[in-house]
Amino acid sequence: MARRKKLYEGKAKILYEGPEPGTIVQYFKDDATAFNAEKRDVIEGKGVLNNRLSEFFMTGLNTIGVPTHFMKRLNMREQLVRQVDIVPLEIIVRNYAAGTLAKRLGLEEGTALPRPIVEFCLKNDDLGDPLVAEEHIIAFNWASQQDLDDMVALALRVNDFLSGVMYGVGIRVADFKIEVGRVYDGDYQRLIIADEISPDSCRLWDIETGQKLDKDVFRRDLGSLTDAYTEVARRLGVLPNAAPHYTKPTLIN
Ligand code: TYD
Repeated sequence: MARRKKLYEGKAKILYEGPEPGTIVQYFKDDATAFNAEKRDVIEGKGVLNNRLSEFFMTGLNTIGVPTHFMKRLNMREQLVRQVDIVPLEIIVRNYAAGTLAKRLGLEEGTALPRPIVEFCLKNDDLGDPLVAEEHIIAFNWASQQDLDDMVALALRVNDFLSGVMYGVGIRVADFKIEVGRVYDGDYQRLIIADEISPDSCRLWDIETGQKLDKDVFRRDLGSLTDAYTEVARRLGVLPNAAPHYTKPTLIN
């Protein structure tokens, strides 16, 4: 078999040239990093779970008309995706205070926010992905005003989808990060969801117990990361041979 050309290796994924022009093969590694890669480990099976979970979320988004780069899963660790020009921003949506927002504003972790808050960070590891304002984004031409409006709209649609799907299996989506990329149809360009959507880039809390089912398990040494991700996959019915989880109906008097 011809060796594929490696295009890029990141912290959790490798990108290879795809079989057709305009396609890429996204390979999910088992590497886990946190705190801008100061903490790192290899968590056996993480890549397999994230490949499946990202497939699940991206397929759902495509189905309800939120465009993503996802085309199909190829095997345990790889998926075929559309090639995009990545916008150099991390788009964060928050429903509950946690992480850097809780620290920055002195909010107790878990505080419900008055409405979903969309933030942008510049994708730059050397600078630690700093928070940037829309003013910076426009001034430095990382994205246009139209792109910004589209990014916020896409992010909020992803939030409604993710929050709804996860609510159905008893999980609260406290926050998450997405990335978007540009695709060109002739002269016309539009933004689609790219990268991955997995527990690596979300904060997921069990609605009843508050148990963390995301990368905070690794960041804060709270136990087995694969157990947490497996639980998410099991509840969503994503793992083969696993019964999906149904939330108990609430009786109203
Ligand atoms: P945030 O609280 O800003 O940072 P941290 O995770 O370092 O405490 O993160 C908000 C959410 O976005 C959280 O679910 C993690 C995710 N995220 C990433 O996956 N990658 C990133 O580079 C950033 C900045 C956030």
